Amino acid sequence: MRIKIINGPNLNMLGKRQPEIYGSISFEAYFSILATTFSGHELSYFQSNHEGAIIDEIQDMMNGTYDGLVINPAAYTHTSIAIADALAMLSVPIAEVHISNIYEREPFRQHSFVQPLAAVTIAGKGLEGYKTAIEFLIGKNGNAHN
Ligand code: DQA
Repeated sequence: MRIKIINGPNLNMLGKRQPEIYGSISFEAYFSILATTFSGHELSYFQSNHEGAIIDEIQDMMNGTYDGLVINPAAYTHTSIAIADALAMLSVPIAEVHISNIYEREPFRQHSFVQPLAAVTIAGKGLEGYKTAIEFLIGKNGNAHN
């Protein structure tokens, strides 16, 4: 299965950014663990701090080169109708991930524009949430091997 992972703003700072909330390893380090764990699949990773760049990346997925998307839009989760509109164009399943439990944090984090478009939302499981999201997409694809 070909799976794209998209991370939004400030997630390039994982490992350095509020480690008590977001953990102490970089996403690049975690991505190499994911790539090994799911070596039978094609994973690719994109991160941007820019809303338009994230939208461009989502639009690129419309050429059919991926079978599923894992997205953590970070703060854009709570603000970006434009990212939600781009996601609404996709026909592949979307798994929304948040490292922290957005439902137990400040009220402004508790609303997600992405959640209605996602087949699953995983929040508060740390980086392991990405692994769970990929497992979900693989299961949905009816493909049991990893
Ligand atoms: C986040 C939660 C968002 O509220 C926050 O703005 C982030 C990261 C998470 O992964 O827990 O940047 O999406």
